[in-house]
Amino acid sequence: MLWKLSTTKGNMLVMNKRLIICTAFLTVAAVTVISSCSNNRSTGLEFARNMYDPIGYNPDQPNKNFKDGKTAQNPPAGTMPVGFDKYDIYPNTNEGYLAASAGMANPLPVNVATLEQGKTLYLNMCSHCHGNEGKGDGSIVKLGKFPGPPSYSTGNSSRGGAMKDLTDGKIYHTITHGVNLMGSHKSQLSPEQRWKVVMYVHELQKLQ
Ligand code: HEC
Repeated sequence: MLWKLSTTKGNMLVMNKRLIICTAFLTVAAVTVISSCSNNRSTGLEFARNMYDPIGYNPDQPNKNFKDGKTAQNPPAGTMPVGFDKYDIYPNTNEGYLAASAGMANPLPVNVATLEQGKTLYLNMCSHCHGNEGKGDGSIVKLGKFPGPPSYSTGNSSRGGAMKDLTDGKIYHTITHGVNLMGSHKSQLSPEQRWKVVMYVHELQKLQ
């Protein structure tokens, strides 16, 4: 009997302990839930705060590491953004065309390798209208559906002067902006590729 009594007593103690732990847990849970609802703008408990705040400076943040106290600094003189076309400053107008003629020169040195690359680009991008030798007899012209462009060596430009006298800048401007029936090739050819084609067109201007 004595033994039985003590067991019941022991069981009751264990039950009380569970009750206390459960109540404590529920209270903490309830307080957490209620307190997190109290302020709509509060983000609540934030774990690993430095994952929210970048270690680097924000562009508009004050910054005492620089003389003018700003984080956003002007790029150093003489630098340009990635993909920036420094030659693309001549507008698609006749004035832009003439200004390009006066102000532009091919930055690439003339050599066989570059000329070969220019030739490949020309054959892929221009020859179906202008013809493999630039005579204005490309494959789509031969079909009779497209008026032939003037020959690079013997024709005359619609903007005045002989085609064989077209300068670096005039050819570059034409590739970039197009002219009349010829569309712009700006998105198909990078500035460097355009200069390679310009170099090769000069070769075609010399043909008879
Ligand atoms: C869809 C056909 C077509 C393609 C492709 C084409 N052209 Fe033309 N191109 C023409 C026509 C047509 C003209 C004559 C436009 C005019 O003067 O009215 C012309 C004119 C020109 C001129 C003379 C511009 C001037 O000032 O008179 C040059 C230089 C020229 N193209 C170069 C090129 C080069 C280089 C390519 C390749 C990147 C090319 N073209 C691709 C049709 C084309």
